Amino acid sequence: MKMLISLFLSLLLPSLTFSKPDSPVFNVLDYGTVGGLFNDSTSAFILAWSAACTSSSPSSMMYVPSGHKFLLHPLIFSGPCLSPDISIVINGTILAPVIPSKWRCIADLCDKWISIKDVDGLTVRGSGRISGLAPGWWDVVDNMRPTALEIAHSKNISLSGLRFMDNPRTHVHLNNVTSARIFNITIGAALKSPSTDGIHVSDSRDVSIDHCRITTGEDCISIVDGSSNLKISNIICGPGPGGISVGKHGSAGNIENILVSDVVFIDTRKGTQIKTMEKGGKGHVKNIIFERILLQDCRYPISIDHFYCDKEHCTGNNSAVQISGVTFREILGTSRGEFAVQLVCRKSLPCTGILFEDINIYSDLKNMAKSLTANAKGVIRGQNIPETRFNNPRH
Ligand SMILES: *[C@@H]1O[C@H](CO)[C@@H](O)[C@H](O)[C@H]1NC(C)=O
Ligand SMILES: *[C@@H]1O[C@H](CO)[C@@H](O)[C@H](O)[C@H]1NC(C)=O
Ligand SMILES: *[C@@H]1O[C@H](CO)[C@@H](O)[C@H](O)[C@H]1NC(C)=O
Ligand SMILES: *[C@@H]1O[C@H](CO)[C@@H](O)[C@H](O)[C@H]1NC(C)=O
Ligand SMILES: *[C@@H]1O[C@H](CO)[C@@H](O)[C@H](O)[C@H]1NC(C)=O
Ligand SMILES: *[C@@H]1O[C@H](CO)[C@@H](O)[C@H](O)[C@H]1NC(C)=O
Repeated sequence: MKMLISLFLSLLLPSLTFSKPDSPVFNVLDYGTVGGLFNDSTSAFILAWSAACTSSSPSSMMYVPSGHKFLLHPLIFSGPCLSPDISIVINGTILAPVIPSKWRCIADLCDKWISIKDVDGLTVRGSGRISGLAPGWWDVVDNMRPTALEIAHSKNISLSGLRFMDNPRTHVHLNNVTSARIFNITIGAALKSPSTDGIHVSDSRDVSIDHCRITTGEDCISIVDGSSNLKISNIICGPGPGGISVGKHGSAGNIENILVSDVVFIDTRKGTQIKTMEKGGKGHVKNIIFERILLQDCRYPISIDHFYCDKEHCTGNNSAVQISGVTFREILGTSRGEFAVQLVCRKSLPCTGILFEDINIYSDLKNMAKSLTANAKGVIRGQNIPETRFNNPRH
């Protein structure tokens, strides 16, 4: 009897005792979910978020406890919040419905799974896991698959500790964020999963990404239009398609001041890369530094491609993006491709101000690694293996 009563109480307790609106910790278990793969926790998460976000205490926390799994459909955590220091601590596991057709998308839009918008001073951390259980999605066309976590239109953001696994598309997307640090996160997805970038940055400023381990089916980190003042360091990327890529695709904002340092590429297809669309480009990509890069069996360690063209970026006029001020320094290791260096720029708008300093890349194949350049102007210092020559104007 005693046992029955306590069981009864424990079922009631969450909603009765713990949901004090002013308590600084808002545990999702107190908002009508017990977790588990068969219970939809979406509305409990929304309620816990609303409580944390409307709390006026100086710091407020939404908590996802360890030892539990939570099934979530697409949802939005939106701000602005009252507390200047709001956090989401995820120590448990967050999962999505396994079968794409079972996802309940917001207004039929399934382009995001967990979306955070208009929240300043947010910390997202914990030792938990966010997993899309995605193989079912990988046959669905690219732009129908959701990004796992998008943080948008926000300032002063910190994201750390979490592990992202097998999500349907991009794992983490910073979109129009100012002042953010992403560190100590792990991202893993099957090598064959299409367009599953690790971290994607668009329209964002003053961002640092460090101490992350990323292996996915697409770029480890991709930086696109409108991004500036980024520092990326201490990243292990691969195995997989890999790549830390700076790509200007649209005619939107410029890309400048990107520092990528202390990165290891292990068994990747791509390494350091700048690509801009073949047609209808506009604006510039400038002041980009890649330094202290270690390569093991990387197929395309160093590349600039002025003629990038995939399904989405092949139409428009012949205008191009201006690429200038790009440094590749202390890039060492092995390549298993033929061309370890490929700098291919336009005759009408050469790439300028390229600095190559202490490049030392050997081929794993029997032949030497090679270097290919077109319309690239710059300076070479220190070691230059394979031998790169710039197309500088004669005096
Ligand atoms: C959680 O799921 C189990 C199994 O489907 C079900 O029996 C239980 O009623 C659910 N609990 C809640 C709170 O929805
Ligand atoms: C979440 O997990 C971390 C690391 O395991 C632990 O230090 C922290 O105390 C946990 N958070 C809460 C609110 O229990
Ligand atoms: C950034 O957010 C933290 C809380 O996460 C807060 O303490 C700090 O004051 C904020 N900084 C700025 C410049 O707003
Ligand atoms: C970027 O985010 C800010 C809020 O941080 C917002 O005011 C602005 O409208 C957003 N810009 C775009 C282009 O969405
Ligand atoms: C990194 O995150 C893990 C949780 O995933 C935590 O246990 C560890 O202490 C963190 N390390 C640092 C240096 O913060
Ligand atoms: C080419 O296209 C870009 C982007 O759409 C546009 O901004 C630019 O004005 C066009 N240039 C010419 C010469 O038409």
